[in-house]
Parts: sequence; structure tokens; C-alpha cells
Amino acid sequence: MNKIQLILVDTNLEYANYISRYVRTSEIHDKVNLRTFTSKETLNQFLKKDPVIHIGLVSEDVYAKWGSDSFVHQADLLFLLEEDTRNPVGERGVYKYQPTHHLFSYILSVYFEEFQTSLSAGHQKAKLLSFHSALGGTGKTSLSVNLSRQLTLLGYKVFYFNLELVNGTSLFFQSPEDEHTIQLYYYAKEKPELLGSKLDHLIKRDPYNGVDYFDVAVNPLEVKELTGDHVQTILDSLVHSDRYDFIVMDLDSQLQSHTKKAIEVSDLLLWVLNIDVKDFHKTNHSLTFSSQLYGEKVNLEEKTFFILNGYSRELPVEFERFNVPVHVKLPEMKGWKNLTSGRPVTTTSIFPQHILQLIVEQDVEDGVRLG
Ligand SMILES: Nc1ncnc2c1ncn2[C@@H]1O[C@H](COP(=O)(O)OP(=O)(O)OP(=O)(O)O)[C@@H](O)[C@H]1O
Ligand SMILES: [Mg+2]
Repeated sequence: MNKIQLILVDTNLEYANYISRYVRTSEIHDKVNLRTFTSKETLNQFLKKDPVIHIGLVSEDVYAKWGSDSFVHQADLLFLLEEDTRNPVGERGVYKYQPTHHLFSYILSVYFEEFQTSLSAGHQKAKLLSFHSALGGTGKTSLSVNLSRQLTLLGYKVFYFNLELVNGTSLFFQSPEDEHTIQLYYYAKEKPELLGSKLDHLIKRDPYNGVDYFDVAVNPLEVKELTGDHVQTILDSLVHSDRYDFIVMDLDSQLQSHTKKAIEVSDLLLWVLNIDVKDFHKTNHSLTFSSQLYGEKVNLEEKTFFILNGYSRELPVEFERFNVPVHVKLPEMKGWKNLTSGRPVTTTSIFPQHILQLIVEQDVEDGVRLG
């Protein structure tokens, strides 16, 4: 994505340095190119070059003293930094001393609302991957967590989205900022129009693994009440945030409306099997009755990788009677048995390099079509 060109104009050097430091050290850095100006001369020199300025952030006293004629017209969107919210200085005033991430979250959401199409044009949207299985306990969570971490090591931006009835995210990904609330569910269900602007607050990044996730409280009832539309809303806002290369969804084996929607919109479905006759039987029949189970729109076979997980011996010949194509065999990991913490699942890669590459390169023809 092209970065947003933002200028900050303020004679207060300390404030300008503070904002520059925030942009340099936070994830905003991926989206925003910031230039700060504390003197009229340097600003004028810069403006003479007729630069592209998407957002201008201008302190109210500079605006009053230097006049509005020059830079106002060069920025697509101008915000005035207000010192005092009791005396608003104009339509586009923003309180200067609010927490910086709130300030940026607000101005970017206004910007995206007005100019979204021109910015996202030509950008490859996030690829949606889902882990699913016919039986419980086959390794979906372990593999989705492991894959998320491995993709970040390859330099991709990854969001791990847990959609299990009993959310297990906190076992694997944590941040000191975790609060564990049900706000995500509230916004998805009650205020979907606000979800995009709330993302910064709802998303956390595990500083050790570099994977982003929703910081949610375990609440099976809230998950049970998620509909396909709610999941679509959440995915829309993640995809439209343009932050991610991959959104990895960790689903339950039970089919509920939110699970079905996740499967429907996924670019790639990673179906996890064990050497277990019940598992092969159910998987085989899930394929046979695919349209009844997953809906007419889903061509399961076309977008599914079948992964035999915990593979320690040859498949019994009797299993040949099942029409299940096994694409990938992943080994039994000794360190993943009887876990006392989630750490071993993120520290060793179970996916061979060529399989990671295959997952990355699997074509997404026109990007993800959501909504
Ligand atoms: N390749 C592997 N080698 C050894 N142990 C594994 C392997 N994959 C998963 N496990 C272990 O198997 C158990 C079940 O794994 P996991 O929780 O990932 O399955 P799941 O499919 O997500 O389960 P559920 O359906 O309950 O969500 C865990 O104890 C996990 O550590
Ligand atoms: Mg699981």
C-alpha cells in the first residue's frame, strides 16, 4: 500500500518530536510517512515542491498566525490540533493531548472513510486461511498458531483469529496490554459501523511472536451467538485495515453459522486429520455432502489442503477406501505432548519450508471478495 503522507505543523518542538517518535516506533510506521515542520521557512520550501499531502495536522496557533492560505489547499484533509476542547476551532478540530494512538486512530479512520478507494487501489488484500477438521483435537489450534508465527518469521503481517467456542488465544499469544473484554463481540453485533475505528484498541500484538490477535475474554455464549454476518463484518474490517498479509482462522470442528461463513470466505482451507478411522470416515462424508454442510457456494475440494498431523507411521491400507487426498504429512512433535505452556508450539516450526511456500503462493485471483 502507498503510505499516507502526513505533515505536522507546530512550533512546539517538543510536541513535534513526541509525535515523530510515536510514528517511528509504532505500527503506524507501516502506514504513515510523517514530516514535521516547526518553522515557516522550511514548510514553505517544502510546499514549493508541490508535494502530495494526504493529511495535514496543524496546531491552532500556527493556523491563526501563519494564515491558512498555503498549506490548507495542499492537504486532502486538514485537522487542527486544539489545546482546549471547550473552544473548538473548527469542524475538523482534534484534541492535541489525547493518547497518541487514539489521535491517529481517529484521523486515519476519517481519512479512510473519505479516500479509501484511491488508497487501496492495486493493493493485494489479506489472504484468508482457515483451519478446520471433522473431529475435535486433531491439531487445528497448534497448527494455526504455529503457522501464524512462521509466517511472521518470513516477514508477513499476520492476524491470528480464534473462532473456537472456548477461545484459546491467551495460551499462545499475550501482550502486557491485554484486558480481556468482550468489546469485539459487542461492536460486531451492536455497532458494526464503529468496528473499523475501534480496531486499534481491540487488536493486540504479541511482542515475542509478532502475531496480532483479538484480546477477548473467553465467553462461549458470545461466540455461540456470532452469526455469519458478524464474522463477515469482523473480517471486512480486518481486511480493509490493510494491515495484514494473512488472516489465520482457528475454527472448531463443529459447524456453526460463524464457522460456515469463515469457511465460505476463506481462500485456503487447511483440514487437519489424524490417523483415525472415524476421522477419515467423517472427512470423506463431509466431502460427499459438502454442499449440504457448507452451502452451495463452497467448492470444498478446490480450496482445501488436507494435512495429516502427528504422522508417525504409514497410513493403514484399509484407509484407501476413503476418498481423502492427503496433501501434507506433518510429524508427531515430542515437545507438543503434555504441554505446560503454549510456548513450544510457537518456538519450533512443524511446517517444512516448501509447504510454507506453497501456502504463501497459493493464488488468490482477485483478492478476497468480502461484503
Ligand atoms: N504434530 C503434533 N505432535 C504432537 N502433539 C500434537 C501435534 N499436533 C497437536 N498436538 C497436541 O494434540 C492436542 C490437541 O491439539 P489442538 O488443541 O491443537 O487440537 P484442536 O484440533 O485445536 O482441538 P479442538 O478441536 O479441541 O479445538 C494438544 O495437546 C497438542 O499439543
Ligand atoms: Mg482448537
